[in-house]
Amino acid sequence: MNVSVEQAAEILKRGGIVAIPTETVYGLAADACNEEAVLRVFAAKKRPASNPLICHLPDTESVERYAASVPSWVSQFWPGPLTVLLSHKGNLAPSVTAGSSYCAFRVPHHTTAQRLLRLVNTPLCAPSANTSGRVSPVNAQMVEHDLGPRIDGILDGGPCSVGVESTIVEPAGESEVYILRPGGVTREDLERAGITVLPGGNKKAPGQSASHYAPRVPLLLLSLPPETRAEIFPYNPARTLALTFGASAGMGSVEWNLAPDGNLENAARALYDSFDRAAEMDIDLIVAQDPPKEGIGTALHDRLRRAATYLGFLDRGTLRAMNREGSLV
Ligand code: TXA
Ligand code: MG
Repeated sequence: MNVSVEQAAEILKRGGIVAIPTETVYGLAADACNEEAVLRVFAAKKRPASNPLICHLPDTESVERYAASVPSWVSQFWPGPLTVLLSHKGNLAPSVTAGSSYCAFRVPHHTTAQRLLRLVNTPLCAPSANTSGRVSPVNAQMVEHDLGPRIDGILDGGPCSVGVESTIVEPAGESEVYILRPGGVTREDLERAGITVLPGGNKKAPGQSASHYAPRVPLLLLSLPPETRAEIFPYNPARTLALTFGASAGMGSVEWNLAPDGNLENAARALYDSFDRAAEMDIDLIVAQDPPKEGIGTALHDRLRRAATYLGFLDRGTLRAMNREGSLV
């Protein structure tokens, strides 16, 4: 059911759960200070209680009411697709953080999300608005198909402009961070702002299991040189959808080139929607090229690797595929 911003605010204040637009993906929101409402989010998503939720607020000042301290450099990225893991003050519903002393805070820049956050005047916890293990929705129709009857409303804010989830960072010092999840703010963006990105990370973001981003059709991710000839592919091209990012390899009879001009931001915007549309097609396999690992390409690579049923590579001119357990198939 579609609701207006005002209706969404009313439902949320009464403890309901509403899907809301952000620039990254749609979130399933609840009042983060209302434990019962938060538990309804976990139930609707079938999300394990051990996997904490991101808290959304309209600006840095409001984050300061819930976070013990906020590094000054975040103002360069907020509002925007950056989530920062910070010690919290204990004034949020306990399930939001799954009992952790850290909370993931985010200030989205989507105009509708901003209006809603100001109207409700309470932090909104919002994980991606999908059943656990499914692809994150990037438009209101995807939310409706997946969660429709299980939630109290959908606030339609149009298609998401970034299309992959926010970057999650964990501060490690004054101006040093670990990247726990690559996303809309790139490593290059952080470095340009004088932030040092450290390798690895102390805390794991618990909800990043491999299968988390999988489309409903098996996906084979190929790391092959662009000059690879189509003849080496053993699968039936008529039953295959090829997803490419720039160079075309003639891999399937239907090919969706998500970055024909090399613009990976367009590809990020289109990726989850293409997974969704592929599920409606009569095909056996999605074969995806590995996008260049630079800028937002790092986030695309990360999501494709998690989405992949098989990883393909060239072994002396022969294509081989490995499953998640590392066995050749
Ligand atoms: O772009 C986004 O971040 C979207 C929009 C709706 O804001 N949200 C989103 O939420 O992607 P979700 O729940 O699908 O992914 C959040 C990730 C999960 O992997 C979760 O485990 C991690 O953030 N996370 C949340 N709170 C955390 C905490 N307190 N400590 C460690 N990891 C946390
Ligand atoms: Mg998610």
